[in-house]
Amino acid sequence: MQFITIWAALAAVALSAAVNPPSTPDEDNNTTQLPLIIWHGLGDDFERDGMKEVALLAESVNPGTYVHIIRLADTGSGDRQATFFGNVTEQIETVCQQLAAEPILSSAPAVNALGFSQGGQFLRGYIERCNNPPVRNLVTFGSQHNGISEFQSCSLGDWLCNGAETLLRSGRWTDFAQSRVVPAQYFRDPTELDLYLEKSNFLADINNERELKNVTYKKHLQSLNMFAMFMFDEDTVAVPKESALFAEVNATDGTVTPLQERQIYKEDWLGLKKLDEQGKLHFKSAPGQHMQLTDVLLKKTFKEYFGPMLEEGESTSIPRLVAQPGY
Ligand SMILES: *[C@@H]1O[C@H](CO)[C@@H](O)[C@H](O)[C@H]1NC(C)=O
Ligand SMILES: *[C@@H]1O[C@H](CO)[C@@H](O)[C@H](O)[C@H]1NC(C)=O
Ligand SMILES: *[C@@H]1O[C@H](CO)[C@@H](O)[C@H](O)[C@H]1NC(C)=O
Ligand SMILES: *[C@@H]1O[C@H](CO)[C@@H](O)[C@H](O)[C@H]1NC(C)=O
Ligand SMILES: *[C@@H]1O[C@H](CO)[C@@H](O)[C@H](O)[C@H]1NC(C)=O
Repeated sequence: MQFITIWAALAAVALSAAVNPPSTPDEDNNTTQLPLIIWHGLGDDFERDGMKEVALLAESVNPGTYVHIIRLADTGSGDRQATFFGNVTEQIETVCQQLAAEPILSSAPAVNALGFSQGGQFLRGYIERCNNPPVRNLVTFGSQHNGISEFQSCSLGDWLCNGAETLLRSGRWTDFAQSRVVPAQYFRDPTELDLYLEKSNFLADINNERELKNVTYKKHLQSLNMFAMFMFDEDTVAVPKESALFAEVNATDGTVTPLQERQIYKEDWLGLKKLDEQGKLHFKSAPGQHMQLTDVLLKKTFKEYFGPMLEEGESTSIPRLVAQPGY
């Protein structure tokens, strides 16, 4: 995916940052640099150089950041396979256990979280269902918070992607697809909401769209200090792109209904309204195609959302590194 192409540029930036040690912090050192957890996207894996570069960059922007890249298998190929195939309910359960069992994470007062593409809605699932260790700030890039209404086309020869794709087209609402094909579990077409509400193994539940609302989901999500969602302006990979901002799109006439005008917000099924009213819900846009992240944007984002935590729960991070060049 496009994601991979930018990493070469990013690597250079991260390396140069690593060579120049960060300036020593001022005397007010009673701040906590929280660990960062990252959940990568479809077709990626925890061993990719790109992931390691993001981790390096996070450490260089906020020195002392411990980074944990979420994995669903011990090998890169197994982890990549799990981005296409598996039961997302079970995958999130696995991640809940993984994070709770990691001593550095579980002993921290909280962690920050970064989700790339589908990893973003899965992190939200982690927060809603487990949130142990609790997430302080959540940032998602190009995630499908309101699902996808089309499946992506795979590149030639990518048998894993093509296999998933074939299963999707032949029966997205079958128990088979809903228990084994990952993107089917966040498929959401507004023209077939009934089937979605009945069959969706992941998204309909995590978005609290069914009659019975889970109050824990809401409680956990509204405990976030900040939740920033980024949409890529030219995104044609994740359809509709506005799903990244929790908006709904009518595919017939192209009407976009922003989150604030939707029932999920007005009736506050997930606590998003409350977060928004407190200034903690941020709607952001990024230039370019799906996951075409630049080092400039990542650094700015890491500074803004993953900086050290003040002892009192404040909703803004401390601009400790304003002097650092680069953005
Ligand atoms: C900063 O940390 C050092 C070493 O841990 C400690 O001696 C010093 O008192 C701390 N300063 C403040 C202002 O907390
Ligand atoms: C830093 O702040 C925490 C939380 O308020 C407090 O418990 C701790 O004693 C402080 N540490 C220092 C070195 O001032
Ligand atoms: C709500 O979610 C929590 C956390 O996943 C779970 O423990 C609880 O059983 C759920 N409640 C309902 C009514 O489904
Ligand atoms: C996914 O896994 C959960 C937990 O094992 C299970 O309850 C659920 O039925 C599975 N989903 C489907 C669609 O099979
Ligand atoms: C989408 O827009 C068309 C044309 O305006 C309308 O007829 C249809 O009901 C809309 N669909 C949904 C799901 O709202």
